[in-house]
Amino acid sequence: MLISNTKHEITVPLNDLTAQYISIKSEIDSAIERTISSTAFIGGEEVKQFEKEFADYCEVKACTSVGNGTDALYLVLRALGIGEGDEVITVAHTFIATAEAISLAGAHPVFVDICEDTMLIDPDAVEAAITSRTRAIIAVHLYGQPCNMTRLMDIAKRHSLKVIEDAAQAHGAYTQGQRVGSLGDAACFSFYPGKNLGAYGDGGAVVSQNEALIERIRMLANHGRLEKYLHQVEGVNSRLDGLQASILRVKLKYIDKWNNLRQKHAVAYLKSLPDSKVTLPTIQPEARSVWHLFVIRVKNREQFQDYLKKRGVFTGIHYPIPLHRQPAYQHLKISEGSLPITEKVAEEIVSLPMYPELTHEMRNRVINSVNSYYSHS
Ligand SMILES: Cc1ncc(COP(=O)(O)O)c(C=O)c1O
Repeated sequence: MLISNTKHEITVPLNDLTAQYISIKSEIDSAIERTISSTAFIGGEEVKQFEKEFADYCEVKACTSVGNGTDALYLVLRALGIGEGDEVITVAHTFIATAEAISLAGAHPVFVDICEDTMLIDPDAVEAAITSRTRAIIAVHLYGQPCNMTRLMDIAKRHSLKVIEDAAQAHGAYTQGQRVGSLGDAACFSFYPGKNLGAYGDGGAVVSQNEALIERIRMLANHGRLEKYLHQVEGVNSRLDGLQASILRVKLKYIDKWNNLRQKHAVAYLKSLPDSKVTLPTIQPEARSVWHLFVIRVKNREQFQDYLKKRGVFTGIHYPIPLHRQPAYQHLKISEGSLPITEKVAEEIVSLPMYPELTHEMRNRVINSVNSYYSHS
């Protein structure tokens, strides 16, 4: 949505969920009405159909929906039998949910550094961190770009590890011609409202080529039961509700179109932002990012963000404090400086406005503001 400041000024928010809702309002409203009329609030046809459609979209055999992306990760670990005494390797440059899920499962998160160009997990660092306790790697396809899955799968195979894709930010991304979600042992998605495929509340899913694994997760997510009052194990209550499924079914029809629009904005940014002044994102040749976020690196970040804000351009930081430096992980006793690239990028990253509904005028406002900042500083 274009918001006017003054007669000549426009504001460019970091994301705009209203604009997207308006563009599909009648379909969304009738999906909500249909679900309410059917009273299939938990489970039911909408959830079943969405799981099937999302599995097809990810080019995998099976999908189970869950309550959110954090639960998706936790439930995969649990279904794989990963828990107490086990180590799971992942990055500290991610949203806390990735690591929270490991701890929730009772396992121990082991943080490794990222590659400076892609800001994604460094396969060499993964290999160096493997011990006799390592059971799995969580590869986070951060900002919409797939990790180097060829390397990671090769490492996993040689060390008998599981690979879980954290695809919370990468619905529809490709690498080597394959959709994310179809590359590891299982992949986890979040449908948090601001994601590329976002619900109107919390939601998540696990997809896999392993149908038995998905059935186990389905059981764990539904109080450990296969039949109404017959519980195989103690599980949890983590289900996508019917309303969210009906909304996601509408939005799934548009995701490729929306991802293509994100790509168009990314190409324009890459072409017009001053690459001699800022570090632009690097996408691996084999990867097709879905540009959940467009993240550049700058010096004097605060000053840069303030300048843009004064011109009506809102930015974000994903994420300002790496997990190993968070108060929540001080018990791991990982000292400052131990993940140098992670720590360096955390001080420099800035997310620019990125969403399908960004208009040409708004995109130019972002580009002109960045260029004008550097011509004045
Ligand atoms: C990389 C990553 N992993 C996991 C999650 C957790 O998803 P949720 O918020 O649906 O629990 C998120 C999103 O919030 C995320 O960005």
